[in-house]
Amino acid sequence: MPSEIPATVVISGTGLWTPEHIITNEEIVASYNAWTDKYNTEHASAIQAGELEAKQKSSVEFILKASGIKQRYVYVKDGILDIERMRPAIPERPEDSLSNQAEIALHAARDAMKSANKTAADIDAVVVSCAYTQRAYPAIAIEVQNELGIMGFGFDMLVACSAATFGLHRGYEMVAAGTARCVLLINPELISSQVDYCSRDSHFIFGDVATAVIVERADTCTSLHSYDILSTKAMTQFSSNVRSNFGILSRASDVDPFSADKLFHQNGRKVYKEVCPMAEQHLRSHLESLGLTVPEIRRFWLHQANINMNTLISNRLFDKEAGMDLAPIVLDQYANTASAGSIIAFHLYNHDLASSDIGVICSFGAGYSIGSLIVRKR
Ligand code: COA
Repeated sequence: MPSEIPATVVISGTGLWTPEHIITNEEIVASYNAWTDKYNTEHASAIQAGELEAKQKSSVEFILKASGIKQRYVYVKDGILDIERMRPAIPERPEDSLSNQAEIALHAARDAMKSANKTAADIDAVVVSCAYTQRAYPAIAIEVQNELGIMGFGFDMLVACSAATFGLHRGYEMVAAGTARCVLLINPELISSQVDYCSRDSHFIFGDVATAVIVERADTCTSLHSYDILSTKAMTQFSSNVRSNFGILSRASDVDPFSADKLFHQNGRKVYKEVCPMAEQHLRSHLESLGLTVPEIRRFWLHQANINMNTLISNRLFDKEAGMDLAPIVLDQYANTASAGSIIAFHLYNHDLASSDIGVICSFGAGYSIGSLIVRKR
């Protein structure tokens, strides 16, 4: 039974950095629609000749109904709403300056270290795990490690929307295996740079954020709010329904490194239909592996891509309307923040759990990839 499962690895702290800039649905739709007017005017004769399709308008009502998103936070707002640019304007920094992603990672990391009562000397490893890193090397994690004065090692890993849970799995394994006493896991999601703000299908989906989690041995944990990690489970199944072709071969392949397929794109309807049952099945079998059933779960901190996906999965799991208490939603404010969504939900909604309450952190997304952790409040 779960109460008898010996746990030696715990989550002892979390951190959240929220950008100061907000873009509302009204703002993003007004900008996109103004851009379509300009596009349709500029290409009027080709559209009339049937050589090009006219761009359709986006709508605030559609976005709210189809996704549940009301607004998104962005690292840099300049440029995104400018119909002559339609992408953030983030000046390149000199090589001897702190990188943008390390900067936001550090905010979340310091917050997590504070909540776990950890100093740099307590931490042996730093993992930056997210959907994209701004450069191939040196690892953002090593830059963060250096800034914080942490000994040991750091590395980056990318698993799209499941990067945070898969990163937590690695942290759990390192601590369980004794290769690190304490691991700092960070998810600096700077997605706005990879959003196609000229695509009606996806211009509204993403926001920027950074989250961080401390994983350590139970016997060193001094945190007020900590969770035993009882079990981790991951699964992947290849699909191109959520894809970005941004990568190292663009230069060699003589293609435009900024074309639409190099940005986030998806077949959203297919993703919805295929991933919801996979996530539900994954969660049920993970719980079964510990002899647990859904009614014994106090809270699910689910991936935050789309409110209809979250509602479908949580209502089917509980066989009733789950609501905010059983499966909190943060995507209305944060939008889809790739891997960070379930960690934002966990960060904002875990302090009210009672000792021995059991919860599940779960992500699902591109790959396809699904990652979950069953945790118990200490
Ligand atoms: N404004 C107005 N209408 C829009 C629109 C917009 N911004 N975008 C699409 N539409 C239209 C479509 O053209 C379509 O019109 P049609 O019926 O005349 O063909 C209609 O609205 C429905 O489009 P569809 O794409 O089927 O909408 P949807 O209900 O599937 O919602 C998503 C789209 C992307 C919100 C939804 O599919 C989704 O979230 N899927 C899961 C995505 C996900 O989690 N991905 C993981 C990423 S990490």
